[in-house]
Amino acid sequence: MIYIKDLAHYENKDVTLKGWVFNVRTSKNLVFIILRDGSGLCQSIVSKDDVSEEVWNAALQLTQESSLSLTGNVKKDDRSIGGYELHVSDLEVYQIANDYPITPKEHGVEFLMENRHLWLRSKRQWAIMRVRNHIIFTIHRFFQERGFIQMDAPIFTGNAAEGTTTLFETEYFDEKAYLTQSGQLYGEAMALAQGLIYTFGPTFRAEKSKTRRHLTEFWMIEPEMAFYDLKMNMDLAEEMLREIVSSVLDNCKTELEILERNTTFLENARQPFKRMSYTEAVDMLKSQQTANMLQEMEESRIKEKDELSKEQEEIKAEYGQAKKGRKFRIDARLKEIRARLDDIEEDLRNIPVWKESALNFEWGNDFGGSDETILTMQFDVPIMVYGYPAEVKAFYMKRDPEDDRIALGVDVLAPEGYGEIIGGGQREDNLDVLLAAIKKHELPEEAFKWYLDLRKFGSVPHSGFGLGLERTVCWICGLKHVRESIPFPRMLGRLYP
Ligand code: 4AD
Ligand code: MG
Repeated sequence: MIYIKDLAHYENKDVTLKGWVFNVRTSKNLVFIILRDGSGLCQSIVSKDDVSEEVWNAALQLTQESSLSLTGNVKKDDRSIGGYELHVSDLEVYQIANDYPITPKEHGVEFLMENRHLWLRSKRQWAIMRVRNHIIFTIHRFFQERGFIQMDAPIFTGNAAEGTTTLFETEYFDEKAYLTQSGQLYGEAMALAQGLIYTFGPTFRAEKSKTRRHLTEFWMIEPEMAFYDLKMNMDLAEEMLREIVSSVLDNCKTELEILERNTTFLENARQPFKRMSYTEAVDMLKSQQTANMLQEMEESRIKEKDELSKEQEEIKAEYGQAKKGRKFRIDARLKEIRARLDDIEEDLRNIPVWKESALNFEWGNDFGGSDETILTMQFDVPIMVYGYPAEVKAFYMKRDPEDDRIALGVDVLAPEGYGEIIGGGQREDNLDVLLAAIKKHELPEEAFKWYLDLRKFGSVPHSGFGLGLERTVCWICGLKHVRESIPFPRMLGRLYP
């Protein structure tokens, strides 16, 4: 098989490509087919004078997403998509697709979600899935190169890891079981066997949160390291994220271009991350600096809204008299303006809420999505917030020996408002303290018997973290919603397709 991505090796040679019609356009004696084969796009030209009547007639039948094979000569053409063109001599149809539902016109996101199984073929979704794949590959490489052992944690579990409120319950013969929220506890057991391990698997949260950050099923990478303290844990998380971002920047240029990703913020992640304590983060939230930033943001959005509305009026007025080409550009620009105005409206609705939330934030609370958004807007690099109030964190977090109110946990917040992509910390390694925490959280002691054994038989200081794959993809690709970062998202109200 020859793939479009490899056409450079076949200049002036005859090849056969197999794929689907991404787009087809007919003029008098020519049919222009943009062929999509999964590896790329290639403009292919069928000329009536160069092919048999049979081939010409077959070309005239083609529709969007029909499947076919094309044979022809590869010609270099810098203006053409992908840089090469196919001058077709033969064509074989696998199937003619009728009324493909996703046309080049604009579709609402609900419609696209209903057609997710087809939407995956579009250019943007293609690019996102490729970046996702590259991130997965880089994560495995990162850990494998450092001697970490990948372990698979169970998906049916008998106990809660991250608290009892977000569990999916299911029947397990005569018992109740839960879909795992995190592989961490099992990862800890394996770390005491192997030293350095990581899990990479699906996790489930029955949160009834309908936000752009929440899925009910998502993939998590959870390294766990014996003899690591919080600082070593943070250093590893930073090194891993830097490697992921650098590798995507170096290897996914085409994809980032398709996504029109502004890569400045990604480039910044090659710099050292900002580290601050929870207490410093709270002070920052409540500061005059934050209030000023939000004020300025609001003013600049209002100004931009006025300018865009004015431009919108002007080009709309011009439309009636405009020539065909100009009309086309006006339509495109109007679409851009509408999208931007929607974003501005959303910001203008949010800013007063953010202001309130930041100003009234009290030490001891957990950060909400908007608090994280505000913090990340003040730095160009990812932020690592460490030392959270123990009360808001999971039972297994070790307390700071110097301040009992504080847990040795860390969250990593991605810039540009993306917020938390990593949660982790040092684990409580003392049997009695851990037992007391399990009781305090009203967790069933019996179910944690095996976990407590880890503190009875060769307990050591250890740490780890969990990286949410979809939130990472979302940030790196610059997506607005986590639903586009996974092939078939599972969210509140979505179990199909
Ligand atoms: O902060 P979380 O809940 O931490 C844990 O599960 C720990 N056991 C990890 C560990 O220390 N081994 O989740 C970790 C990450 C979050 O930072 C976020 O990126 C992602 O998992 N995540 C979600 N992603 C999508 N949808 C959700 N509902 C998510 N909940 C968490
Ligand atoms: Mg968290």
